[in-house]
Amino acid sequence: MSPKRTVELRANGTEYSAEAETRTTLADFLRRQCGLTGTHLGCEHGVCGTCTVLVDGAAVRSCLILAVQADGCEVSTIEGLVDTTDPGNPVLGPVQQAFAEAMSFQCGFCTPGIVMSTVSWLADRPADADEPSDREIREFLSGTLCRCTGYTSIVEGVRLAAQRSSSGGP
Ligand code: FES
Ligand code: FES
Repeated sequence: MSPKRTVELRANGTEYSAEAETRTTLADFLRRQCGLTGTHLGCEHGVCGTCTVLVDGAAVRSCLILAVQADGCEVSTIEGLVDTTDPGNPVLGPVQQAFAEAMSFQCGFCTPGIVMSTVSWLADRPADADEPSDREIREFLSGTLCRCTGYTSIVEGVRLAAQRSSSGGP
């Protein structure tokens, strides 16, 4: 048992404060203390990317950083992409919507991490960048693992999201 500390962070606009052992990963903190179970855990050693979240705007593998390292940070998870302004009519975020239309998943286990990685990747691309090539998308996706789809539908989802983001669309 390692010592405990209070961790305070803001996730998807909500403040969370809870005790956690100093060895608790951010992924476990989000899932257990914050109830944000949309962040999935696969390999738990930084390979698969399924646990990817944004910490202060940067994509990180939440299995590789400790909750105490995210103390005071702004965290975004897959749940936060949904617009719940009208609670009776939640609206998917643009990347989620593109993935849904392109059917970029089968079991869906990898999807939260790949969506969050895509959100970060698109945000980092210059506003006037050309539409990404297949090669560029596949290179970006090489940091994430999917055991089901064969990636073709994921490439299509990323391309659709990129097209819409460069056209200022939904
Ligand atoms: S669970 Fe974090 S990279 Fe695989
Ligand atoms: S859809 Fe099953 S692991 Fe990617």
